[in-house]
Parts: sequence; structure tokens; C-alpha cells
Amino acid sequence: MNSVRPVSPERLPELLRLMPKAELHIHIEGSLEPELIFALAQRNGLTLPYATVEALRSAYAFINLQSFLDIYYAGASVLIREQDFYDMAQAYFMKAAADNVVHAELFFDPQTHTARGVAMETVINGLHRACVDAQAQMGISASLIMCFLRHLSEEEAFETLEQALPYRDKIIGVGLDSGEVGNPPEKFARVFARCRALGLHLVAHAGEEGPPAYIWTALDLLKVERIDHGVQAIQDPALMQRLATDRIALTVCPLSNLKLCVFPDLAQHNLRQLLDGGLAATINSDDPAYFGGYMNDNFTQTFAAVGMQAQHAYTLARNSFEASFIDDVPRRAHMDRLDAVFSAFE
Ligand code: ADE
Ligand code: ZN
Repeated sequence: MNSVRPVSPERLPELLRLMPKAELHIHIEGSLEPELIFALAQRNGLTLPYATVEALRSAYAFINLQSFLDIYYAGASVLIREQDFYDMAQAYFMKAAADNVVHAELFFDPQTHTARGVAMETVINGLHRACVDAQAQMGISASLIMCFLRHLSEEEAFETLEQALPYRDKIIGVGLDSGEVGNPPEKFARVFARCRALGLHLVAHAGEEGPPAYIWTALDLLKVERIDHGVQAIQDPALMQRLATDRIALTVCPLSNLKLCVFPDLAQHNLRQLLDGGLAATINSDDPAYFGGYMNDNFTQTFAAVGMQAQHAYTLARNSFEASFIDDVPRRAHMDRLDAVFSAFE
């Protein structure tokens, strides 16, 4: 598509919702809405330290990543049975379908569950079944990326990989998440090398709160194909150049960055500068139940706050397909559909 026609500010939200897009950075445990947390707690006979859904939601006031992670891991403790994992993912897919997400790559944190005695098999089978049904029932293609918790040890990451190997065919890649500062990528260089040898795709959170140096080591030592967040790259011109030249995608999550105080307000988010710098940035929701919005909310609020236009929307959606781990035939089909939506939009 050579040029994208400008769209009036009143019509832009409609275009943002209508355009097909891929979501590449969603922690499925971060899609657990308070209502579902309460329903699953009741189903599993668990008592929560909050009396009501409203009381839980009112605890969602975060000052940084760690203050969020404490509540996020507590929320995930209601997931016990395979059906719980299925129901969580299915609820996410229904929201994604409404936002015209046509492809999703879901992060999951098995160590949060196996540490509580939930079997790897339970986690993966529940999520995988929801992915299969999302394709059949909603037309969304979906795959799973297993994340290692970086506040835990290399040895624990290796154990987790061993436990997941019987389900290798249900996972397309591995990632690295949890508390970033003090847990640099190099801590996991050997386990990522093993995953690479197994033919898994590699991604890592880097430069969310941590320094540009963590993005360099994620690229050079872990050999990741995408950087999750990466907004701190802006501090390092040589890194910006590297990311642009190698077309390393950044899976940016604006509402997450706002809620975790990475930026003081959305108008100061640097997504537009990243795109203008030639980086393959994408928009994603991260942990939508905790950060106040799914894909469409991230798009509409960010576009309004930083003054982006239809051309940026097209670039972001196209980047999402370019950076996704799908075969070239469906990738081409998604891009053609994207072009058709933009051509037809009056
Ligand atoms: N786990 C869930 N959400 C996360 C985030 N935004 N950063 C790091 N780890 C996470
Ligand atoms: Zn994340």
C-alpha cells in the first residue's frame, strides 16, 4: 500500500477497531478479570483476601512493575484445573475478536502454577484447547509462548523447560518476563541457547523499566527475534539504529506503561518517536484486565493522546503481521485483508 488517506479524527476510532491486527504481547494470566477471579475462586473452594470484585479492582493502583506483579501472581492462584485455563483464554479471545484481532501469540507463566502444584500438562492442555477452539469458533489463529520468570534461577528455568518438552508441539516459542531490574538477560543465556537449538522462537521483555543495556544483551546473548516493550531504547541512538536496521519488532504496551508509571501520562509516550525512527513497533495490551484496556482501548487512547493518524495505524497493524510467528501464506493473506480494509474505508 503506497499511501494511506488521512481520516477525520471522528472516524479514526472506527478504523482502528475495524482494521485486522495481531496481538503479540498478552500475558494470558493478565487477562483474568476480577469477576472471573471471583468465579474461579468459588468454583475451586478458595477464599480471596478481598471481600468483593470492587475491593479487588480498587487494589489496582500500581507505582511500578513490582507492585503490579505482586497482585498479578496472587490473582493467578485461582487457576487450578485445565478448565480454568481454558475459560481464562476463551474470555480473552472473545474480547480480542471484538477488536478484530485475527492472530494472537499468548504468553503464559507456567512457574506461577507449577510452584503451587498445578501440573504443566494442566496448564498447557487448557490453553492449547482454547487456542484450537478460537480458530474454529472465532477465526482467530493463536499460539503459545512459554515465559521464564526472570526473578527465579537459571536452574529453575531449565527444569521448567524439561517439564514442557513433552508438549513441545503446543508451544511456538519462549519468552522472559517478571521483575526486570537486577535480572539481566544474560542470566538466561544458556537456557535460551538450548531453546534455540530446539527450534523455538525467542523473545524477551527488555527495556520496560530496565536500561538499554538489557536490550543489547537480549539481542546479542539471548538472540531474541523480538523485544517486548523496549521503550527505553530511545535513550541509546546506536541501539535505535540497530533495531531499525535489523527490523527487530518492539511489542509496545502503552496502557501498561501508563499504569506502571513508565511514562507520567499517555501524551508523553514515545511510540510515535519509535515509529518515526523507523522501528518496527506494534501496539499490544500486556495485562489488559489490570491496565484498563484491551487492544482497541490501547489503540484509541494512544492515538488520541499522541496525535497519530491513519498512516500510523496502517504501519502498526502491518508491523504486527510482519513480526508474528506465522507462516508466510497466512501472513500475506492478513496483509492483503489489511490493505482491503484501508482501501474500502471512506
Ligand atoms: N508479567 C506480566 N506482565 C508483565 C510485564 N509488564 N513485565 C514483566 N513481566 C510481566
Ligand atoms: Zn509483558
